[in-house]
Order: sequence, then C-alpha cells, then structure tokens
Amino acid sequence: MSYTIGGPPRLFGLVPCAGSGLRAGTDGPKQYAPLAGRPLVAHTLEVWAGLLEVEATLVVLAPDDDRFEQMVPQWQGPRCWSARVGGLTRAESVAAGLAELAVRGVQPHDWVLVHDAARGLLQPQWVRRLMSACGDDEVGGLLALPVADTLKQAGDEEPARVDATVPRAGKWAAQTPQMFRLGLLRAALAAAGPQVTDESSAVEALGHRPRLVSGDPENFKLTWPGDFALAERLLATRMAPSS
Ligand code: CTP
Ligand code: MG
Repeated sequence: MSYTIGGPPRLFGLVPCAGSGLRAGTDGPKQYAPLAGRPLVAHTLEVWAGLLEVEATLVVLAPDDDRFEQMVPQWQGPRCWSARVGGLTRAESVAAGLAELAVRGVQPHDWVLVHDAARGLLQPQWVRRLMSACGDDEVGGLLALPVADTLKQAGDEEPARVDATVPRAGKWAAQTPQMFRLGLLRAALAAAGPQVTDESSAVEALGHRPRLVSGDPENFKLTWPGDFALAERLLATRMAPSS
C-alpha cells in the first residue's frame, strides 16, 4: 500500500473476532454460529467490505482459529485483511490488531474504526453517521444510545435483589464502531491494560472526551442464546441487503 506521510488521514476498520462466546452458549465460538444461514461474522464483514471509504479492514482472529477462511470465503482481496494475533481479552485482541495495522503501514494520524464481530446487524449508514460526526473531531467518538430503562444496581446474592437505583439521566450505552486515531488508541490501550471493555474508556482515561453519536437499537451485540433468534427476526424484516 502506498501513502504520503503527513497526507490526509485515511480510514481503516478493525474487527476483533477472537472471543469464545461463553455467554451465548453456542456450539463453538459464537462468531461462527449460524445467523440466517451464514456465520455471524460473515454478516458483519459484508458491511465492512462494502464501505468503500474504508481503505482496508483487519479481522483479528484467535491464534488457533482454524476455520475463518472456510467459514467466510468471501473475505479476500486487497481491502480484506486478517491476522491471527488475538489475545485473552478483547482489549488485548484490539491492541494486537492495532500493532498489526501499524506494521501494514497505517499511520498514527489515520482513523481506526473498531467494531465487534458480534454486532452482525450493523448497517453502513450508521458507520457513515459516525464517520461524518468524527472526521473533523480532535478526539474521535463512538456510536451509543441514551439509556431508556431505569437502571438498578444489584447486590451479589442469588436470586438478585436491588441495592440501589442508579440515576438514568445522561447515561448512554456504548456500541461499536468506535473511531479513534491509531496513535492515540495505541497509547490509550497500552496505558489502560487488558481489562477495559471498549476503546472509549481507554481514551477517556487519558483525559479525553469522545463524541457520543446516536447508534441504533438494532446494532446490538449478540451475547445471549436468545439473541440469535431475535437477530434473525430483525434480518427477516429487512427488504434487501443494503449498501
Ligand atoms: N473478542 C476478541 N478477543 C477476546 C475476547 C473478545 O477479539 N479475547 C471479540 C469477540 O470475538 C467479539 C467482541 O470482542 O466480537 C466483543 O466481545 P464479546 O461479545 O464479549 O464476545 P466474547 O468475549 O466472545 O463472548 P463472552 O464474553 O460471552 O465469552
Ligand atoms: Mg467477552
């Protein structure tokens, strides 16, 4: 890939896909569980392949992943990258993916959009909304939704009981993609350590205030067993694959 150092920032995708999906209870890693006849991650990657504003997208796989190429044979060509550099936590997988992007010539000022493989109902217009909101931003930002329900803090007994009601005002639920510059994100994740659950929290810990950009309820992360049936019902209501 050729580029000009100091030229305008480019956009890259990074899809962590190295988890095991314990909560979903699927037979094998949830990213390969069938959703409307195709592996979950095939849905996710179809969107990234179609986003032509994005120079390339890197899928981060587990080091012992032996089925990606067979499960997603469409993922090939100069804009479709993969690397078996996943770690023990999501943050480690993302950090390793960012290092791989740097090796492949992505510059510190280029934008990276990190998106969970498990959010397979992504629509390109939501990614474009994030890109246009953050493209001129100092820090970057993320898709998120204002919390609608009243929030309860549970104690640790079983069955669960309420300890407290948490004020809902001003609370947002974070989604992905999350869009930050490669250099800032690498520094933020290195400082935050392996347990952070999203990119924004690592960037916030450096004192920055990422933009909150409206996401969509359908952009949920398939997490629990029932989420596959729910996602299939939603896919059935979409007329045709959008572009
Ligand atoms: N992920 C990853 N590397 C890890 C853990 C998670 O790349 N060590 C990825 C998952 O593949 C997923 C995304 O991060 O696309 C969001 O994580 P999550 O939904 O929590 O998936 P899992 O960790 O696989 O599921 P669980 O937490 O239920 O085990
Ligand atoms: Mg997890």
